[in-house]
Amino acid sequence: MDLFDPSKIKLTKYLFYTGKGGVGKTSVACATAVSLADKGKRVLLISTDPASNLQDVFSMELTNKGTSIPSVPNLYVANLDPIQAAAEYRESVIAPYRGKLPVSVIANMEEQLSGSCTIEIAAFNEFSNFITDEKVQQEYDHIIFDTAPTGHTLRMLQLPSAWSNFISESTHGASCLGQLSGLESKKAIYKQAVETLADGSLTTLILVTRPETAPFKEAERASGELSALGVNNQMLVVNGVLTEHSDALSTSLYEKQRAALAEMPESLRTLLLYMVPLRAYNVTGIENVRALLSTDHVTAHAETLNATHIPVLNDVIDELAVEGKRVIFTMGKGGVGKTTVAAAVALGLVKRGKKVHLTTTDPAAHLKFVLDETSGISMSHIDEAEELKKYQSEVLSKARASGMSNEDIAYVEEDLRSPCTQEIAVFRAFAEIVEKADDQVVVIDTAPTGHTLLLLESTQSYNHEIQRTKGEIPESVKRLLPRLKSDETEVIIVTLPEATPVYEALRLEDDLKRAGIAAKWWVVNQSLYGTNTTNPMLAAKAASEVEWLNRIDEHASGKFALIAWSAEEIKGDRLLAL
Ligand SMILES: Nc1ncnc2c1ncn2[C@@H]1O[C@H](COP(=O)(O)OP(=O)(O)OP(=O)(O)O)[C@@H](O)[C@H]1O
Ligand SMILES: [Mg+2]
Repeated sequence: MDLFDPSKIKLTKYLFYTGKGGVGKTSVACATAVSLADKGKRVLLISTDPASNLQDVFSMELTNKGTSIPSVPNLYVANLDPIQAAAEYRESVIAPYRGKLPVSVIANMEEQLSGSCTIEIAAFNEFSNFITDEKVQQEYDHIIFDTAPTGHTLRMLQLPSAWSNFISESTHGASCLGQLSGLESKKAIYKQAVETLADGSLTTLILVTRPETAPFKEAERASGELSALGVNNQMLVVNGVLTEHSDALSTSLYEKQRAALAEMPESLRTLLLYMVPLRAYNVTGIENVRALLSTDHVTAHAETLNATHIPVLNDVIDELAVEGKRVIFTMGKGGVGKTTVAAAVALGLVKRGKKVHLTTTDPAAHLKFVLDETSGISMSHIDEAEELKKYQSEVLSKARASGMSNEDIAYVEEDLRSPCTQEIAVFRAFAEIVEKADDQVVVIDTAPTGHTLLLLESTQSYNHEIQRTKGEIPESVKRLLPRLKSDETEVIIVTLPEATPVYEALRLEDDLKRAGIAAKWWVVNQSLYGTNTTNPMLAAKAASEVEWLNRIDEHASGKFALIAWSAEEIKGDRLLAL
């Protein structure tokens, strides 16, 4: 596998980076952008991730308009902010009616357009504008999209055809996004956006993975689903490959990676394959971004650890048990180990005599990979398609039982086909699961930050949707937000001892605080600091962690636990040793 060097590869105008949470999409996309700009190409780098890290990598504030990077001429960077996009979309729909319609009607329209699917479609509108805008096409040699983890991105790309179908089939012309007429004009842009993505002479899909089993599996899924959308011009970048080994730890990592590479799914082997070495430094700051695809400079870190004693996960579980927490979330950036920590907390609470239910809101997570039912823990995951069917049939049977006319039932049926109904169904399932906390402890592994923030957003706006669709509000939903804000609930922030995972966790904690949800403990996972490795590269990487451990220690007032990096999969009883 050759080193991934964008300046030596014939690249199309549009480059679209996707892959599992935390694999290095942002790092490799940024390094590509800088490398091409350094070669004199005019480059626009855009993040569609609601929890983007570009501002961390370039250490500057960004907007949804291209901002030039002073130390990299020719490079412009933009963050598509779905919340802001939704606000702009809402205003674009309402503005023509201000001063013409009664204030109460305007207020109702504003409420109607504050649902989570407005956020989704507005985010896609912004994305499709960038990928279809002729002026942007002429202005730049390359337009690079850094995206959110796979699940979120696939849903975003499937949205246009979902809405185009809904728009063309709709008979009453209304939806949770207001008059569909407003969307009619978008259909052409949606069509052009999907065509551009599917045009191999214009767009390349760059699948980013780590040399590990789960990321390879997710890359295989993404490759298949995007081929189904017609996006066939694909290449694979394996990021974080250890190129040399010396001590026991580096040798076990090296062998583990080689084994995963040997088992790479067949469908991925047919793609153009490139690799990026594992580096001793975080991919933040222009110097490190420039170095990622070229050299491995080891910067001496003099910082020493302030903490004299660092708690372990069992100390966290002890406190959760003593405080009688009933709803426990693990949250954080993609790929930091939320599922592993959630499973370990669940198993630890069972060992302390608690009755526990473990679940995940992450469509991509596989709890059964880390824990099986013999552990005395009941488990579930939110199957989005399943929940949608369940919700649609429930609303319909209630409508029929209420003696509604056939015409009205047809109206409800049509409305239930709207792409945002899934959001409502998933949310209700989430509320039902939290309701289990009445008689047991519920431990919830969540999807990467961006997806979870949207779930929280919809927690706050869900009632509007139900009001509008005349659906009754289930008790579980009425009780959800108050329960999340109560001291029954605790969010464990999971991170890596690295720059962007810590910055993202700090922003997440702020959002939780704003929503009135408690987050006291931080868990720092996959730490090399605790391993005493003598391998020069890994030892340098361990030293680079100290700065972040000290920051977390200070920020969380010592409420942070460390989990050392280990070559073996942490699953089953090994979870108890954390
Ligand atoms: N080759 C590498 N060597 C060492 N560290 C790396 C490498 N690539 C990425 N990293 C580090 O891994 C972490 C995750 O990288 P990054 O944010 O690019 O992943 P991502 O796929 O964009 O994550 P998300 O799914 O959350 O958007 C960062 O701390 C980054 O500095
Ligand atoms: Mg990213």
